[in-house]
Amino acid sequence: MHSHLRIVPLLSLATVTSACVKEFDQLNVNQAHAQTNPLLARQAEWPPVLTDKETTLVNSFDSNSIDDWAEYYGHQVKLAGLGHEAAVWTRDKWAEYGFKAELNEYHVYLSYPRHQSLSITFPNGTTNEINIQEPALPEDEVTGRPDSVPTFHGYSASGNASAEYVYVGRGTQADFNRLESLGVDLNGKIALIKYGSIFRGLKVKNAQNYGCIAAVIFTDPDADGNVTVANGVAAYPNGPARHPDSVQKGSVLFLSTYPGDPTTPGYPSTKDAPRADISHVTPKIPSIPISYAAVLPLLQSLDGHGFTSEQINRTAWKGALPAQYSSGPAPGVKLNLSNLMRGKITPVHNVIGYINGTNPDETLIIGNHRDTWMIGGTGDPNSGSAVLTELAKAFSKLTQKGWKPRRNIVFASWDAEEYGLVGSTEWVEEHVNWLTETAVAYLNIDVAVSGPRPYVDATPELHTVAGETLKKVVYPNFGGYNISLFDAFTDTTGGEFGVLGSGSDFTSFLHRGISALDVGAGGNPAKGDAIWHYHSNYDTYHWMKEFGDPGFKVHAAMGQYLGLLALRLIDDEVLPFDLPNYATELKGYYKTLRELVDSAGVELDTRELQAAIDTFERRAGEVKALETLAKARNDTGLIKVVNYKYRDFQRGFVSQGGLPGREFYRHVVTAPGLDTGYAAITFPGVSEGVQYGNLTIARDWVSKTAKGILRAADIIKT
Ligand SMILES: *[C@@H]1O[C@H](CO)[C@@H](O)[C@H](O)[C@H]1NC(C)=O
Ligand SMILES: *[C@@H]1O[C@H](CO)[C@@H](O)[C@H](O)[C@H]1NC(C)=O
Ligand SMILES: *[C@@H]1O[C@H](CO)[C@@H](O)[C@H](O)[C@H]1NC(C)=O
Ligand SMILES: *[C@@H]1O[C@H](CO)[C@@H](O)[C@H](O)[C@H]1NC(C)=O
Ligand SMILES: *[C@@H]1O[C@H](CO)[C@@H](O)[C@H](O)[C@H]1NC(C)=O
Ligand SMILES: *[C@@H]1O[C@H](CO)[C@@H](O)[C@H](O)[C@H]1NC(C)=O
Ligand SMILES: *[C@@H]1O[C@H](CO)[C@@H](O)[C@H](O)[C@H]1NC(C)=O
Ligand SMILES: *[C@@H]1O[C@H](CO)[C@@H](O)[C@H](O)[C@H]1NC(C)=O
Ligand SMILES: *[C@@H]1O[C@H](CO)[C@@H](O)[C@H](O)[C@H]1NC(C)=O
Repeated sequence: MHSHLRIVPLLSLATVTSACVKEFDQLNVNQAHAQTNPLLARQAEWPPVLTDKETTLVNSFDSNSIDDWAEYYGHQVKLAGLGHEAAVWTRDKWAEYGFKAELNEYHVYLSYPRHQSLSITFPNGTTNEINIQEPALPEDEVTGRPDSVPTFHGYSASGNASAEYVYVGRGTQADFNRLESLGVDLNGKIALIKYGSIFRGLKVKNAQNYGCIAAVIFTDPDADGNVTVANGVAAYPNGPARHPDSVQKGSVLFLSTYPGDPTTPGYPSTKDAPRADISHVTPKIPSIPISYAAVLPLLQSLDGHGFTSEQINRTAWKGALPAQYSSGPAPGVKLNLSNLMRGKITPVHNVIGYINGTNPDETLIIGNHRDTWMIGGTGDPNSGSAVLTELAKAFSKLTQKGWKPRRNIVFASWDAEEYGLVGSTEWVEEHVNWLTETAVAYLNIDVAVSGPRPYVDATPELHTVAGETLKKVVYPNFGGYNISLFDAFTDTTGGEFGVLGSGSDFTSFLHRGISALDVGAGGNPAKGDAIWHYHSNYDTYHWMKEFGDPGFKVHAAMGQYLGLLALRLIDDEVLPFDLPNYATELKGYYKTLRELVDSAGVELDTRELQAAIDTFERRAGEVKALETLAKARNDTGLIKVVNYKYRDFQRGFVSQGGLPGREFYRHVVTAPGLDTGYAAITFPGVSEGVQYGNLTIARDWVSKTAKGILRAADIIKT
């Protein structure tokens, strides 16, 4: 679902604390909490020294076979519910590489496009149809296939709307508030919204809450740096600039309230499962996505009407198109939008592959989603699917040499992620007891490659092993040199691991108290990288081969990283977890929280939380000392005790019930922001209580957050 671009330096926005930008076209987000110990030094020892097993794994990665897997996936229909063939292929590949592999079916609610159209009518009565589809490109054959998926929003409401329209910026609550305070009448209007900053479903939700009757969400080239047609750069397929007609599809589920099949909240979507009402987590007003070429006449028709962008004075209000970005409405200029969807409960298929470990009590899960909005999807997510297939092959090279993994390995190829993390959420709901008993971590790879710049988001106890592993991988041709992945990472991120919010399949694991990590590589147009067509029919194999990763070398490096990291988590006698670092990060999040409280000018006693963090820090030190002792004595009984503590401590963070108004999200330390959807907010119960001015909630969650942290501290007590 997501793509990543991490921009350094980061602008700060009071409460949102993700170091990494979750959406490609979003440049103006967000980081209040800087990681306490970023990795800054350049790597000293080079080239890396690897063990025999590591060498076998690394050498098994072959760019040519990754290219083959990418080409396969890049030519299949994989829209959720229609991707059975690619599921079977994936299962068979994994079985060929020695995994026990099977299809895992759920019956989930999805919606498909039937009729979408948009037209503009001027006061003189002239009506012009707006092109909302992406033309076929002769150079890129999959874009012209008759089974191509048209543009639409998953889970959008069916409906027709004919009304004047208002440009509402990026459609955040702050944008709508600003227009309301200026006296712009939003009631009964169609909202024209720019992509960026927050998850699209929340844009539609905000439009609905402010009285709009429909929403049109457009791509703006303002995130494309100088890699634009306006700047003389040729557009895809002739060059690296964005194709003017490319459209970002995507789900409009209210993701920050509930991911997963909205008809089965909290339980798996088996065939006969009871079905719940979905009206509080899906929009009531229709919406459609359009391209920047399509929006231009719509924006220009508002020029000189309503308020100017200077009067509105909101962050990122003005885009890069030749228009004034006035609010409107323009009297008598109307849009007529039609959005007819067909909803149905239909089978989807995860693929689950596994190899049992010698220790049945500990399990590592590695997952990628397989479903796409289009036939391609060679960036999102099948760059990750190709990597995972190659990783299965790499593990087979080890098992052929007699390797028996210490811990269970589960591979997952999720379906229906795009609609709202559906396949992974249903699977976690079905297996939650076994996962609670045995899961040591979940590793996610969604968009493995959409550009050359790597990022890693992770829960803090994984930072140390994640950083050590970065030093073991050669990163090809970064700025013209072969350097270490570590150096490419510090160059891209300033050495910071991001905080997990949402936007991909780690979400359900994290909120059931399982350590998690997400890795990938994206492009940065400000540094001249080619524009990737996120959620567009132009995210294709042809684009990847020509512009994204010619030679599939970045794919191979990402796979080597994921494999080496997995190998440590599977095979290290003591789990390579750094709990003192979790304590350090908690203290950083606490500082951020105090800054928020002080800047909001409210009285909030957070000493209970501070005391809990102190207790956790002490216990983290004690369990580290126990680990040292267990290793020194080579005491297998004691090592087991330490491993179980490391495996389980996060379960404490999810012990306090759901966050306010969103039962699914239980982690007291991190969650997707209620009004951002992707980006993380730390101490979400407290921070959002303060942010939305409800001190009753904030006080309640100071206590609950402290209790969750104490519960975690209790689990690691020696
Ligand atoms: C009606 O107005 C639109 C927008 O100003 C203009 O493009 C179009 O040519 C006009 N049509 C006629 C018939 O005057
Ligand atoms: C909207 O208009 C389309 C096209 O005229 C029509 O097929 C559809 O039934 C209408 N939908 C609703 C919900 O009124
Ligand atoms: C774009 O190019 C202009 C002129 O060469 C330069 O001043 C500016 O910094 C560039 N912007 C970006 C985002 O690369
Ligand atoms: C625009 O908003 C900023 C920040 O809210 C404020 O500092 C500035 O004075 C405003 N500018 C105008 C012209 O109102
Ligand atoms: C809006 O467009 C739909 C679909 O093209 C059409 O059926 C309907 O008559 C139009 N409504 C208005 C008010 O123009
Ligand atoms: C793997 O372990 C599970 C659970 O312990 C067991 O049910 C299953 O039969 C084992 N599978 C294989 C292939 O050994
Ligand atoms: C990077 O390494 C690859 C093979 O690993 C080699 O073909 C290439 O020439 C190297 N590039 C540079 C700039 O050293
Ligand atoms: C620790 O003990 C295990 C058997 O209990 C043995 O296989 C291993 O080699 C020992 N490790 C060290 C470092 O002595
Ligand atoms: C604060 O939240 C509580 C619990 O949801 C609610 O009962 C109360 O009305 C809210 N108070 C305000 C001022 O919004």
